[in-house]
Amino acid sequence: MLVLGIDTSCDDTSVAVVEDGTKILSNIVSSQDVIHKKYGGVVPELASRRHLEIINFVVEKALKEAGIKLNALDCIAVTRGPGLVGALLIGMMTAKSLAYVHDLPLVGVNHLEAHIYANFLEFSSLKPPFVSLVISGGHTDLIYFHDFDQYKILGRTRDDAVGEAFDKVAKFLNLGYPGGPVIDRLSREGDAKKIRFPRPFLGKSFDFSFSGLKTAVVNYVVSRKENNSAADIVAGFQQSVIEVLTAKAINAAKEMKVGKIVLGGGVSANSALRKYLKTQAKKNRIKVYFPALCLCTDNAAMIACLGYYKMKKYFKDVKNRCFSLQQLDLNVEPNLKIEENFSL
Ligand code: KG4
Ligand code: ZN
Repeated sequence: MLVLGIDTSCDDTSVAVVEDGTKILSNIVSSQDVIHKKYGGVVPELASRRHLEIINFVVEKALKEAGIKLNALDCIAVTRGPGLVGALLIGMMTAKSLAYVHDLPLVGVNHLEAHIYANFLEFSSLKPPFVSLVISGGHTDLIYFHDFDQYKILGRTRDDAVGEAFDKVAKFLNLGYPGGPVIDRLSREGDAKKIRFPRPFLGKSFDFSFSGLKTAVVNYVVSRKENNSAADIVAGFQQSVIEVLTAKAINAAKEMKVGKIVLGGGVSANSALRKYLKTQAKKNRIKVYFPALCLCTDNAAMIACLGYYKMKKYFKDVKNRCFSLQQLDLNVEPNLKIEENFSL
């Protein structure tokens, strides 16, 4: 089954073609970083306008790279939420137009759920149950993935998402945008043990809170007690974040009695987290799955992959196109939650 995936949930315009949920034929990601850089964060209106300008070119490029024509597709999958409403609408309208004109079934998927499915693209033997940590610019969710479409939220952030904390700390230190990759790189030159920032564990709760940690970094810099370098500061901040994420993910896996932790979202590209979590999990005989770096951050291959699984489960006969028109009343859901288990 050939699925065209479209994602315009935030500031990347992405279109991919994936065969049978595993084989990536193309995965085009057009980044808007240069547009938003000068503001130190995503400007929603600018994001929507840029999506609109380039979405058709990105669709064309994805098809060309995959070496297929639109009439060879079996289905179109598009992100219906969560995300920025204006940005989501561009992807949704594009998907609906293509589905209508080419008489294809259309499936709307949850972007966070797709971040987890990025792992199914790579690890064909991965099977639930497992604990999943979705860590991105907008979300920090610890999820018990019991089976396909059976999720339980164990905890989530009470304030800033973890990627947001990386971005805000980088912005405060004038390090550039997006902050996560910059802090990841700069931390390698610093000493993570030099400055000990608080570890926001919130007792035994599986919830997260990174806003206080971000303020602790700001207060430290403002008071400038010692003359530590930016590399030491960000390395100390990053260490605090990864210790909290790691401890909670491992505790959750133990509590749910599963031997697997599956990561997803932009922050799972963090090199220090990948190393630390793997080492700690091994000590507890837990296996950790991370998507390849290019599949951690936003991309449409993961949308097409999830679309494939939804199609297989809910639309028995894909070639029977009788569902296509019904799906044209799909709408975007900017605040869609992963446990709102209605992704079609
Ligand atoms: O999943 P994603 O591409 O978009 C959202 O759905 O939000 O995640 C983007 C977030 C940004 O906050 C970015 O700073 C962070 O992921 N990020 C990282 C790294 N690469 C991207 N954070 C820490 N270390 C990284 N290497
Ligand atoms: Zn994302």
